[in-house]
Amino acid sequence: MPRHIAIIMDGNGRWATQRNKPRTAGHKAGVSALRTTIEACATYGVDVLTVFAFSSENWRRPDQEVSMLMELFLLTLKNQAKRLHKNNIRLKIIGEKTKFSESLQSKMQEVEQLTSDNTGLLLIIAANYGGQWDIEQACLQMMSYASKENVSLSDLKVDDFLSTAGIPEPDLFIRTGGEHRISNFLLWQLAYSELYFTDTLWPDFDKDALDLAMTHYSSRQRRFGQTGEQLTHG
Ligand code: FPP
Repeated sequence: MPRHIAIIMDGNGRWATQRNKPRTAGHKAGVSALRTTIEACATYGVDVLTVFAFSSENWRRPDQEVSMLMELFLLTLKNQAKRLHKNNIRLKIIGEKTKFSESLQSKMQEVEQLTSDNTGLLLIIAANYGGQWDIEQACLQMMSYASKENVSLSDLKVDDFLSTAGIPEPDLFIRTGGEHRISNFLLWQLAYSELYFTDTLWPDFDKDALDLAMTHYSSRQRRFGQTGEQLTHG
């Protein structure tokens, strides 16, 4: 069982287009697929689920789609906060949050606060997130910490300054929607993750689709640089 699953939820737009619906309908259906996946991960006892909701590059989409996505985030946080809390789920948002509206930022903070003592699944939503941004901000923070605390940079670790500091790295990475790319998601953290790509479009991703990804994961031998023989013979 993977402890940490990271997902790029791709294919909402195509799902909608196939049904002659506006792209925004695909994002709404995407929220429902996300709920199913969160519930399944919580039931399976997965510790961490990280999902890519909005990349630093997604601001380039048509204005109308960007503002609909922002409204959807706000609405979903409002509607789902109690449910997350009741299910003992802890929410953490990573990314450059200052670019979001005041109301969205304060809602994000409110739900993080509400769920901060929960001990079940940790749900991380990457919003206005970019893997390169994360590494850069970690290096900057590390340098300022070193000079403020008067410690040597070589005694510090980049991991401890990433937005996922203290959280185990993803064991399994899933990308739906058929593309085989990391798209500036968790670049540092995915170094040793199993990569799983499926053509299934995100709104169609259900418990069976998750089970297939889990089966793929359990069939892989993770070597972390060692040989297969070293692992089987200790
Ligand atoms: C990619 O599909 C999806 C997104 C950029 C948005 C993902 C957001 C959600 C699933 C909603 C999540 C909600 C919360 C509250 C976290 P795409 O539009 O790139 O699809 P395409 O490749 O078919 O065009």
